[in-house]
Amino acid sequence: MCGIVGYSGKTKCGKPLEVCLQGLKRLEYRGYDSAGVALVAPGMERVAYAKKAGRLSNLVGYVQRHPLPDALCGIGHTRWATNGEPSDVNAHPHVSEDGRIAIIHNGIIENAGKLKFDLQSEGYSFVSDTDTEVAAKLLGKIADDIIKKTGKPDLFTACRRMAKMLEGTFTILAVDVREPGVVVGMRHDSPLVVGVGKDESFLGSDVAAFVQYTREAIELGQDQAVRIEGGDITITDFDGKPVEDKHFTVDWDASAAEKGGWPNFMDKEIHEDPSAVNETLMGRFDLDGRIKLDELHVDEDVLRQIDKIIVVACGTASYAGLVAKYAIEHWVRIPVEVELAHEFRYRDPILTPRTLVVAVSQSGETMDTLMAIRHAREQGSKVLAICNTQGSSIPRESDAVLYTHAGPEVAVASTKAFVAQITAAYLLGLYLAQVKGVMFHDEIQLQLSELRAMPKKIQWVLDNDDDLIHQTADRLVDKNGFHFLGRHVGYPVALEGALKLKEIAYTFSEGYAAGELKHGPIALIQEGTPVVVIVPSARNRNILHSKVISTIEEVKARGAYTIAIAEQGDPDAGRYADVTFTVPQCPTLMSPLVDVVPLQLFAMYMAEAKGNDVDKPRNLAKSVTVE
Ligand code: M6R
Repeated sequence: MCGIVGYSGKTKCGKPLEVCLQGLKRLEYRGYDSAGVALVAPGMERVAYAKKAGRLSNLVGYVQRHPLPDALCGIGHTRWATNGEPSDVNAHPHVSEDGRIAIIHNGIIENAGKLKFDLQSEGYSFVSDTDTEVAAKLLGKIADDIIKKTGKPDLFTACRRMAKMLEGTFTILAVDVREPGVVVGMRHDSPLVVGVGKDESFLGSDVAAFVQYTREAIELGQDQAVRIEGGDITITDFDGKPVEDKHFTVDWDASAAEKGGWPNFMDKEIHEDPSAVNETLMGRFDLDGRIKLDELHVDEDVLRQIDKIIVVACGTASYAGLVAKYAIEHWVRIPVEVELAHEFRYRDPILTPRTLVVAVSQSGETMDTLMAIRHAREQGSKVLAICNTQGSSIPRESDAVLYTHAGPEVAVASTKAFVAQITAAYLLGLYLAQVKGVMFHDEIQLQLSELRAMPKKIQWVLDNDDDLIHQTADRLVDKNGFHFLGRHVGYPVALEGALKLKEIAYTFSEGYAAGELKHGPIALIQEGTPVVVIVPSARNRNILHSKVISTIEEVKARGAYTIAIAEQGDPDAGRYADVTFTVPQCPTLMSPLVDVVPLQLFAMYMAEAKGNDVDKPRNLAKSVTVE
């Protein structure tokens, strides 16, 4: 968690501060309990810095009242607290004993206690509760040692030397007044990307930090360090050996990460569900309509050998994986397990070279998922990432990647990424069916045409259901203890609906398979208990439809207030449920793409009705980069 931005230019001016504050605004989704900036210009005795607890606006207000000097370079940080409560003193940057060096940090330094003890016994003192201050003091000491030995400052060498002493996870940026204009970054198990400008360079936790200035970027690999000074960029490993730069061009522009007139990012992003599906399908077919996933870079012979898939993911991404399980098992006829990434490597999973591990992640930085894929690769399995973020760690550490093209997702609650992940996983499933020859060409084409029809159907939900969903949310705003029920692919949709309501409306809710109701949860149903039911189509699998309608009857008989998500023309939902959110007709396997939309809107309206910050719910961060 935490967002990091860095900038170096050629002339002394206000741009370093502007870049840092703009970057922090775009990275605030990564953490928002405090923020700070540090600036360096020639002639400074100590780094100029400001830091404030609370939202970025506190820092902005503070620097307006207490202006910072013009500078050549700067670093900025938005924090999600791990060590030490959110407060001015614990906010980043942290400075060396003499104030000449400032650093910002994302991650957790696990040996900070030991390092602090050693530094204290040498007379160093500490003012904060953070591991970052330990690194700042340590870096100051190493930098001074280098000056004593060589007679000149060398922040790049000092940072690399320190990086080798730290245990845990870190991205650290550092500046030193003795080398004005230089920003050094280093990373181990936390993200950092470099932005390439003309006579200027940028650093960021992700490209959102600098995309308004440049779309040319370089991935920084694991255990690499970077030195930027104006337009000069040097990247090495921690031993100082040069490494090959991996350049890429960001495929979206800054306007995609703006609210663009929407009241909040979540609202905007829900309304981008149709384009997220559409864009994820684009350009992935040859002239005969066959699926063409050249970007995978996995030999078709290897894919033909795959006899099991394990999806590893967390939160919403894991529910997308659960939806995909139903489709891929049905189409490809191989078993698909879906495992929460943080449970995966601790249970000694059975992995062989014929197992394909599919890591699903919007951010590409979720530490639990990253650790899971490392484990899978160590065991000899191939890993394929379904990811939305170019240049992020999970695709970089996978054998293959299938990007979802949902565009930047800023709201902490994941919405458009979910439908894009399902779409990408379906493409993968149909591609495997094509490669393995287990489905006929026309069968695959039929599924693809259903998939291509989904953006319009999602749009229909957005255009037609909004008012009723809004009114229903307003009416139920004081209710607690929502039950979300579904069967088959409706089950993961129920899980996702419950998660959305928990995370942004702070409403206790539980999602489960409708068939489980009578095995326990029904004891919780009483007068007025809200129950949301995903109703499968009566046209496709009548048996499931009638069972779910029976579920509605069972809870209604015990006083529940029921909301059904049901397709147009459903013969029963309207008769039994108190409220019905209608979705267009579609085949069962496609239904999650429309069924989830009312649940996303419902959670958003509930959160708004409660006056919550929809985009930045309490205690959460968009990218969970700690285990
Ligand atoms: O970036 P990822 O897709 O790997 O993130 C996984 C989860 O942390 C994420 O989906 C989380 O559950 C969302 N806040 C849900 O809305």
